[in-house]
Amino acid sequence: MHSYARVPDCVHFWRFVVKAHSSDGDSMTDLRGKRILLGVSGGIAAYKSADLVRRLGDVGAEVRVVMTAGAQEFVRPLTFQAVSGNPVHTSLLDPEAEAAMGHIELARWADGVLIAPASANVIARLANGLADDLLTTLCLATEAPVAIAPAMNRVMWSHPATLANVTRLAERNVTVLGPGDGDQACGEIGSGRMLEPLDLVDGLAGLFPAPALTGLHVLLTAGPTREAIDPVRYISNRSSGRMGFAVAAAAARSGARVTLVTGPVELVTPPGVERVDVESAAQMHQAVMERLVDCSIFIACAAVADYRVATPADAKIKKRNAGMALELVRNPDILADVASVEQPPFTVGFAAETHDLQANAEDKRRRKGVDMIAANWVGRPIGGFEAADNALEVSWEGGRVALESKPKTRLAVELLELIGARYRASRTPDYGAKA
Ligand code: CTP
Repeated sequence: MHSYARVPDCVHFWRFVVKAHSSDGDSMTDLRGKRILLGVSGGIAAYKSADLVRRLGDVGAEVRVVMTAGAQEFVRPLTFQAVSGNPVHTSLLDPEAEAAMGHIELARWADGVLIAPASANVIARLANGLADDLLTTLCLATEAPVAIAPAMNRVMWSHPATLANVTRLAERNVTVLGPGDGDQACGEIGSGRMLEPLDLVDGLAGLFPAPALTGLHVLLTAGPTREAIDPVRYISNRSSGRMGFAVAAAAARSGARVTLVTGPVELVTPPGVERVDVESAAQMHQAVMERLVDCSIFIACAAVADYRVATPADAKIKKRNAGMALELVRNPDILADVASVEQPPFTVGFAAETHDLQANAEDKRRRKGVDMIAANWVGRPIGGFEAADNALEVSWEGGRVALESKPKTRLAVELLELIGARYRASRTPDYGAKA
């Protein structure tokens, strides 16, 4: 049971990375031949961006680098010229550079823009639409998708001004990659580290979706539910919503129309996702059932409370007695109800288990009549609700795949590839005979 706490106004940014190539070669995203404009702004993480240029080259991208004045205090342009094989752009008002490839030409040249590291300053300037140097001008002048990889001290990152600026950019469809957590150059520990170059390559690949799910409506649930005890207290669980948000993001990048019905979480809505906020299991049930028309795939990632308080109190309960008992009643099972409608979508459920993972998950799949179940261990040191990484055992009638431990964002992409493949298989005439 949790005491009442106001939903924080501050935003914890949705972090995602996706992988560039799926293991089976059926790649959802691909950077081969893509022209990437890499903006490097002032921060110690700028040294990692030289490696990033190499990594982008390794996956077949062509890179041109733009450096801000601050960036040049940390790394020399020559370094980036050497690794990218192209002249580095540093000034808006340099007649020679403009004659070679002017800023508008450069903005048009790019298939995608990545700013890594993105300092608090550059984020603020972008959020306000400034065009006071080459990099910010290019971001205004380009029609290509833009991603930022924030990198700064943890206090600067959590400052309301920075959070507001990043939210503003995310609302304008700028993709926010990271930041990561851990040791910082300033000696502190926390959120604000630039993601590693390989993760940035993966995240950037997400800007160029192969339209594997184009035309489909994917409906998801995510996060915990809150079951009211009285106006200030509720029963809930530790679900962070990260897995569901990562799957929703992956679905949107795959071209699907995505509706995400979510319980209370501190995550930013991924670009292109329609978000429906709910609190209780009953509200989540209603929001889902109302949106089933034309839904092709339903993915139940939410940790729905199995029980709710039979009669929540209208006023705050006072501690008059030595003890108290709450009467709980069962909540509707959203997943089972979706699976049992007359023409159900392709249904995917999750199973969180502390023992007999496979047997319990299979039992759940059959009992609820769902097409696919993704099972994970909980109550262990690694994985589960609050962890950044997770592993899944995914099974369906006649098949099973183990997705090994990795960041939830990557796992989501792999899971979605599987779901897409099984969804397509389910649309073949002989599927009913097997399932
Ligand atoms: N689910 C749902 N509605 C509920 C309960 C669960 O949609 N009222 C979905 C979850 O989103 C998840 C799956 O069902 O996809 C999990 O099933 P559930 O039986 O709740 O799993 P556990 O909580 O692990 O079940 P049990 O307590 O029986 O182990």
